[in-house]
Amino acid sequence: MQVVIVNSEQQVAKYGAQFCAQFINQKINATLGLATGSTPLSLYQELINKSSEGSLSFAAVTSFNLDEYIGITEDHPQSYRFFMNQKLFNHIDINKNNTYIPIGMGDPHASAHEYENRLKELGGIDLQILGIGSNGHIGFNEPSSSLASRTRVKTLTAQTIADNSRFFSADEFQPSLAITMGIATIMEAKQVLLLATGESKATAVRDFIEGPLSASCPASALQMHPNTIVIVDEKAAKLLEHKAYYQQVKFETEQLENSLF
Ligand code: F6R
Repeated sequence: MQVVIVNSEQQVAKYGAQFCAQFINQKINATLGLATGSTPLSLYQELINKSSEGSLSFAAVTSFNLDEYIGITEDHPQSYRFFMNQKLFNHIDINKNNTYIPIGMGDPHASAHEYENRLKELGGIDLQILGIGSNGHIGFNEPSSSLASRTRVKTLTAQTIADNSRFFSADEFQPSLAITMGIATIMEAKQVLLLATGESKATAVRDFIEGPLSASCPASALQMHPNTIVIVDEKAAKLLEHKAYYQQVKFETEQLENSLF
């Protein structure tokens, strides 16, 4: 796991966008795994900017989102389909027929099964973008999720419901169930890019990078992933014990890349 610590939330987005753009430019038909929530918003804006400037195209890209709420329709303002259209897809040249998000209406178990199969049929994920919950979840794989899990229905924890209540008005139905890619599904991505910003993520960031590999902190499964880059701002990195070492690794890696050898 490579841990990159930068000064600000904006730098997390810039560094992340640079990484994504380089990845997509090298594999123009890449399959991306996408996340919703607050964390990737600035990253998506950076990608939109690159696309508007003409330095990045999503025309050949396919995407699979991590998750979707159960019980709200695609056109509901809090659905993840609505979010992705508003925050990214409507502003780039991606073919929306190639953007997949689990369907949260109808039979959710069948929907989850079909989603997993579709992802398999299309060859899996090349680059998976992740945020992290304050309880260490990735996707909606809540603490105690099986590390071998595939796409399925999950019950959201009280913590996640509280964290996400900021998006719903007081009298609005807030789902407590979701369809999410499983941890094993995520682990099959060839490359993972996890972003975390702000002090509210500091404990989860410490636990998943430096704590034990445990279903109690689902993101810790990434310790077993061969190609994971974590980009965090200073606030989210606050509790890391080996911060100086991660900074040294970044410095040495850059030196090596710039050297003539
Ligand atoms: C979103 C997702 C979640 C979020 C996480 C962090 O698709 O799967 O795991 O990445 O809850 O959310 P924010 O970024 O809003 O703090």
